[in-house]
Amino acid sequence: MIPQGNARDWQTRLRLWAAMAIGLNQLVVMAYYSLGLVSGEAMEAFRNALGLYWSLGPVFNAALLLHMSLGLWKLFRRNTLRMPTWEAAQIALGLLLPFLLVPYNLAGIFVSTVFQIPQSYVDTLLLSFPDMAWRYIAMTVIIGAHAQIGVHAVLRLRPWYPRARLIIVAVTTLLPLAAALGYWNGGSQLYQAYLAGTLAADDAPHLLSAAQKAVLDQANLVDYLVFVGLYALLFAGRALRLRLDRKNKTVRIEYPGAHVMVLPATTVLEASRIGGIPHASICGGRGRCTTCRVRVEQGMENLSAVGEREHKALQRIGAGTDIRLACQAEGRTGTIRVTPLLRPDTASSAARRETRNSVGRDVELAVMFADLRGFTALSESKFPYDVVYILNSYFQAMGQVIEAHGGQVDKFLGDGILAYFGLDGDPRDACLSAMRAASQMAANLVGVSRELISVLPQGLALGIGLHFGDVVLGEVGFHDKKQVTIIGDTVNTASRLEALNKKTGSQMVVSTGVVARAGLDLTHLPVAHVTLRGKTDEMRVYVIQDILTDVRALNETKPL
Ligand code: FES
Repeated sequence: MIPQGNARDWQTRLRLWAAMAIGLNQLVVMAYYSLGLVSGEAMEAFRNALGLYWSLGPVFNAALLLHMSLGLWKLFRRNTLRMPTWEAAQIALGLLLPFLLVPYNLAGIFVSTVFQIPQSYVDTLLLSFPDMAWRYIAMTVIIGAHAQIGVHAVLRLRPWYPRARLIIVAVTTLLPLAAALGYWNGGSQLYQAYLAGTLAADDAPHLLSAAQKAVLDQANLVDYLVFVGLYALLFAGRALRLRLDRKNKTVRIEYPGAHVMVLPATTVLEASRIGGIPHASICGGRGRCTTCRVRVEQGMENLSAVGEREHKALQRIGAGTDIRLACQAEGRTGTIRVTPLLRPDTASSAARRETRNSVGRDVELAVMFADLRGFTALSESKFPYDVVYILNSYFQAMGQVIEAHGGQVDKFLGDGILAYFGLDGDPRDACLSAMRAASQMAANLVGVSRELISVLPQGLALGIGLHFGDVVLGEVGFHDKKQVTIIGDTVNTASRLEALNKKTGSQMVVSTGVVARAGLDLTHLPVAHVTLRGKTDEMRVYVIQDILTDVRALNETKPL
């Protein structure tokens, strides 16, 4: 049985650790070759400065072998080759690399251990120049592109990634470019000097003899044959496995109006892809965004157990016991009936393009939920025209305040408002702006109530919940009903904090984290310990009865 579930987790981790080791080594090697743009002496000084580092070659070769093996194994065990373009490009570049990288590493091993040739910068450059120069340059460019896609795929949902992205792209683009140019520059200069016989006596290269070259050529040929054979075996073996397994497709995943027969240990998301069933998966199946979540209508016992990663994600959104993440839940046997809870866009090809928001990203934001107290009952006694007029007056006044404080209205929900702060700022600004906006909203509500006195003599009452944390910002919806929105535990928490106002008769409930990040002193208010619906841990909050009385000081309070 092909290992799945948690085995996938550790294999992925191992592959990433190996990739990091290879990446680190490539940074050093590329920095070394980049110095060819400066001078041969600079290369030599760099080589000498790193001293024993170069003896770590076998460790990095082992990491390379591990990374390649796990990558090929992952490819073999895939039940479908349907994948996003970026992933296909990364795999294609990775498959190309052994034809360039392995001969290069083999040459290094043969030269230093079998032929016992010393490795000065002259040797490093002239041993492969000019015959194998194309190989090093192509290899460098491909490594850079492969790494860039990989780093983006792994880190793109990290909150800090948008800030670090430019640096990462610059390093993975400019360093390989500099290494290729440095290699070419240093190599061609030395080669010309060597041909002209003007190389200093100290720089005399230890060139390979014809016999040694023949050995290397043979090693390269073996490498090509090994990898061509390996790939042929891999794809043929995979095709055979899928063919033989056809009769073993004993798991039936049912969707509303469709079903897919799959092999045991196929995830529900893979089943959706195999069956061409549209399925939201903003994080690309990494168990982070929860947009692939499904309600399991039948056959929960036929799914794999909830793993650690899935458990954390489900806990974050306070999911019920009938909810699973499609990208993590594997069908084991029998029939499983699921209903995807978020609808992806299936028709608009334009919407399939991976924009920053359609892919989704993790960001840290201050999230505000605001709701009109008792408005449902109140609206029942009003003409619809009056309800619309009151709501629009209220939304306009509150929306203006939110935007004036750098926030964004995510959506209006009935008489509620979901807004967030801090998309372009730091956490402190986000929280301070949200607190100030809340205070101003309370003040403006008095003015709105006064204006509406003819249709609403009793005035409007407001409840606000405020929390700070990670959210996923992404495009969600269907056809032209798509919109950028925030989802995640922080949003749920803000909503539940807002709902607490009903119980406590307060005007705002704000987590202590928001106040602390804003650098505000609200020590004149007691800290309450509350357990929110769907949570087990206690949370520390300030319950503010009257924003204009208790937090008016906010507008005069100087940040600490
Ligand atoms: S696709 Fe993101 S959690 Fe499953």
